[in-house]
Amino acid sequence: MHSLSSWVLGILGIGAAVCQAAVTTVSVSATASHAIPTTLFGQMFEDINSGDGGLYAEMLQNRAFQQVTPGTSDALDFWSAIAGANIAVIADPKPVSDALPNSLQVSVPGKSTTAGFANSGFWGINVNSSWTYTASFYYKFPTSSSQSVKFTVELRSASGKTLASSATTASGTATTWKQVQLTLKPTTSAPDVNNQFVVLVQPSGSATTTVDFAMFSLFPPTFKGRSNGMRMDIAETLVEMGPKFFRFPGGNNLEVRPSCRGQTTATRWQWNATVGSLLDRPGRVGDWGYVNTDGLGLLEYLQFFEDADMEPIMAVWSGYSLGGTSLPENELAPYIQQSIDQACYDLCCSASGHLSLYALDQLHYSRSSQGYRSPGALRASLGHPEPFTLNYVEIGNEDFFAADTYPYRFQDFVGNLSKAFPQLTFIATSDVGDPTLTPTPQAYDVHVYQTPGWFAQNVFSYDSFARDGQKYFEGEYAAISTNANDLFGTPSDGRLTFPTMQSSSGEAAFMTGLERNSDIVFAASYAPLLQHVNSTQWTPDLVSFDAGSVVRSTSFYTQKLFATNQGDEFMPSTLPNQNGTVFWSISRLTSTLEVIIKIANSGNSSAQLAFALPFSDVASSGTLQLLTGAETASNTPEAPNTVVPKTSTITTGKTIDYTAPAFSVSIIRVVAS
Ligand SMILES: *[C@@H]1O[C@H](CO)[C@@H](O)[C@H](O)[C@H]1NC(C)=O
Ligand SMILES: *[C@@H]1O[C@H](CO)[C@@H](O)[C@H](O)[C@H]1NC(C)=O
Ligand SMILES: *[C@@H]1O[C@H](CO)[C@@H](O)[C@H](O)[C@H]1NC(C)=O
Ligand SMILES: *[C@@H]1O[C@H](CO)[C@@H](O)[C@H](O)[C@H]1NC(C)=O
Ligand SMILES: *[C@@H]1O[C@H](CO)[C@@H](O)[C@H](O)[C@H]1NC(C)=O
Ligand SMILES: *[C@@H]1O[C@H](CO)[C@@H](O)[C@H](O)[C@H]1NC(C)=O
Repeated sequence: MHSLSSWVLGILGIGAAVCQAAVTTVSVSATASHAIPTTLFGQMFEDINSGDGGLYAEMLQNRAFQQVTPGTSDALDFWSAIAGANIAVIADPKPVSDALPNSLQVSVPGKSTTAGFANSGFWGINVNSSWTYTASFYYKFPTSSSQSVKFTVELRSASGKTLASSATTASGTATTWKQVQLTLKPTTSAPDVNNQFVVLVQPSGSATTTVDFAMFSLFPPTFKGRSNGMRMDIAETLVEMGPKFFRFPGGNNLEVRPSCRGQTTATRWQWNATVGSLLDRPGRVGDWGYVNTDGLGLLEYLQFFEDADMEPIMAVWSGYSLGGTSLPENELAPYIQQSIDQACYDLCCSASGHLSLYALDQLHYSRSSQGYRSPGALRASLGHPEPFTLNYVEIGNEDFFAADTYPYRFQDFVGNLSKAFPQLTFIATSDVGDPTLTPTPQAYDVHVYQTPGWFAQNVFSYDSFARDGQKYFEGEYAAISTNANDLFGTPSDGRLTFPTMQSSSGEAAFMTGLERNSDIVFAASYAPLLQHVNSTQWTPDLVSFDAGSVVRSTSFYTQKLFATNQGDEFMPSTLPNQNGTVFWSISRLTSTLEVIIKIANSGNSSAQLAFALPFSDVASSGTLQLLTGAETASNTPEAPNTVVPKTSTITTGKTIDYTAPAFSVSIIRVVAS
């Protein structure tokens, strides 16, 4: 039995009788109660206008005409013709690849020097003169007559000013696809992101000339210089938060689009459609209603986790479609096999010996023997022979929406996956304990979107959970409205547009409870992580961005303060008043002999606290990191630095007196032994 609930010294309230402002004395235990898992604070990610056009650094939108219908207006989204060119998306009889059946067909008058087409990016293109961009596309001539065409690729401002330019000439009878790759070095930075990517098509002859194009791409330098990698400023912001894990690829976006409900499972996220050449990735209409390029695929994710020093919590699709349709048990086998392959891609050695896994499955999934490689061998062929780290696999997403079918789905997925990978921890996504699942889940993913007040009132929610080996992942949480009746309306109905100091300090209060209960809570992540301010489907979000800038919210700084001030042992202390607004959590970093005190004041008045430390030798000064601001203060694109943490030196000793301001998150670090 865990000692936490019995470790109550009571609130001494020294001074309460003496003066108006009561000082709460917090006595800290000399004995740690438990080790704090290193995975405790991390990030939850899915593409909700945040992978394509966000974390994934590709700058062109609708770059390969994936999943669009030629002839519809959507097909040409984000593309426009320039100066007399005719452009159309066609179902190409000779496409660049099976996965990319559509091409952009462009006709220009002979000898034209100005005709071409443009892409407007993800609501803009960031043109930075300190960067060298990589631009590429495929082209072919639809007729076999000999041609000579100059392609000029430019970055242009909205007013038509050329900021970067590079050219190449294609000649001959190229009826098969050829790739052009050019670098672009802007002569000057653009004052805003209102820029375009332009391709000019200049035939040398006088006849009208037609060229087919496919799979365009424009990349700036990426995080850690990975090709097909992550956008530098966004990736650096995510890393700055100090995440230890990354939940992916969803979220709802793991699942089947509601409009496809009951008809097909083809639109689910499929790992194998996201690996290998970009030409082999068909893309999918994701759950949030737009096309995912799948350029940010399984390998790109896994490499990012290595580069960012965090580990995955990876979800597999478990047979449920949003809107209420579940596959019957006798149709699950191929999807279970695909989930084994997905985990194998991360974990298996490249040796073919791992193929014997499939024999173990006793599943009647027929796979074309032609060209089949074990997922581990496939990964090795793509440049990563060593397995990746993978410890946690989540079975579905929010299966409390399909509680009636989850028992057989959970049982069959976990049964087969654990036979293949007994070392993994599997996470259930239904409500804790309801329905009863077999095998008993090793862990549950719990989600909560609520008011700031709810979070402050539920700081003790995990204290009463049994200590029976089951673990918990607070996989999605955020204070999203101050009005309980408006939690799931649109922002104008009462949802917060951006986190506020009130919402963030409420979350911080809750997080002190997560840390106190980190003997059973092994991971926690705010959601959603990223928001493109020009295409938003959910607010508030942890980090906002547009094509050129990033905004760190007050909740981002709250997460950062918790994640980057992580002790390795939890030190019990006088428990806060469950019905109050001031909460704390104390840990010890044994490597530096520091005591780390986290204080969340989610109320509208300051609170005086006195921390009595159980050490004889306490440094006379420590550091304070303080995030505080007005109740409704937010960081926004217009005012991104309204509330930022401030670091200062404070006087410390065996007793540390501290006044926590209203709506604040405070971290005190002091060396003591
Ligand atoms: C993107 O959003 C910003 C901030 O709201 C706005 O100023 C800008 O005009 C928007 N850009 C586009 C292309 O809609
Ligand atoms: C331009 O690039 C430099 C170097 O990577 C970077 O420091 C700067 O923030 C960038 N500016 C913008 C507006 O992205
Ligand atoms: C991915 O694998 C599934 C079988 O697990 C198969 O049906 C599908 O066609 C594959 N998709 C791609 C793009 O390879
Ligand atoms: C594997 O999945 C199949 C198909 O759903 C199921 O019949 C079988 O019982 C599962 N095996 C285990 C060990 O759970
Ligand atoms: C907190 O309030 C609840 C009623 O809302 C009450 O039952 C409980 O005793 C209170 N706890 C404390 C510690 O005051
Ligand atoms: C301060 O918060 C309390 C509840 O904690 C509330 O009753 C009071 O109205 C608030 N005062 C102001 C000025 O907002």
